[in-house]
Amino acid sequence: MINSMYGKSVLDLTELTKEEFLSIIELAIEIKAKPEAYRGVLAGKILAMIFEKNSTRTRVSFEAGIIQLGGQAIVLDSKSTQMGRGEPIKDTANVMSSYVDAIMIRTYSDQMVAQLAEEASIPIINGLTDNHHPCQILADFQTIYEEKGKLEGIKLAYIGDGNNMAHSFLIGASIVGMDVSIATPKGYEPKSEFVEIAKKNAKESGSKIEISNDPDQAVKNADVLITDVWASMGDEAEQKDREKAFKAFQVNNRLAVQAKKDYLFLHCLPAHRGEEVTADIIDGTHSAIYQEAANRLHAQKALMVKVMTNL
Ligand code: CP
Ligand code: NVA
Repeated sequence: MINSMYGKSVLDLTELTKEEFLSIIELAIEIKAKPEAYRGVLAGKILAMIFEKNSTRTRVSFEAGIIQLGGQAIVLDSKSTQMGRGEPIKDTANVMSSYVDAIMIRTYSDQMVAQLAEEASIPIINGLTDNHHPCQILADFQTIYEEKGKLEGIKLAYIGDGNNMAHSFLIGASIVGMDVSIATPKGYEPKSEFVEIAKKNAKESGSKIEISNDPDQAVKNADVLITDVWASMGDEAEQKDREKAFKAFQVNNRLAVQAKKDYLFLHCLPAHRGEEVTADIIDGTHSAIYQEAANRLHAQKALMVKVMTNL
């Protein structure tokens, strides 16, 4: 089979076809089951990782992942590189392309990452930007598949901020044919450009997209219940205002009982117990947060194999 993803950048999930998306999940499950079979697959390959925002999971899972596959990672924070002193993206992209085989970047600006991808001759992987978090969705969908045995026809309810996670859920779910219902406080809805993309995808995949300000409505009949922090990285100054605005959007038992009896709870982490989710839900029997975090390793190993090799 030809790997259509070889050399491809993944800036957001719109870059992936349904087949490519599912092939990453399939490979992630295979790598998770037989990690030794993939040792050495990225021998001699180097991944540069650039961080402008904090990270635990993304940083460690990418680095551990490439080491397990036989390659190596170089971790950079933009402040200590010339990028932090304003070196043009074009020059950084061209120079880095001659040293390493791929770049994973976590930053603020999606435009900056798009420019990096346009100028570089190597794959660029978005490790979180203000608008997207595609690697997290791969791990989340792997977790949903493991727990529910399918993706198509699953209803996912996302309660909280219309942020990078909400955008990536919208796009990912609409590609694979999952229904997604998002409830946010007024003024915190997902950006309309991503809702439009999801609605367009949904016409093809048959999924349903709902955006509202009504968490009770959104969770009805949901197979998967998801939330995220109320103030993302970069929004810290709004923390107090957001705590007020999001009060009625906490995932707690009152809300969760309206989902399906066997609902799955996911959170990309880090989480704030007592804010967006109560401890009894996130630490309860429906929660798969640690399996979800563990799957970052397997999903990203699969993604690296896909974009960095012809396998
Ligand atoms: N979920 C996630 O991306 O975690 P980190 O911020 O720790 O990388
Ligand atoms: N929405 C959160 C996700 C963290 C992994 C943020 O951007 O901070």
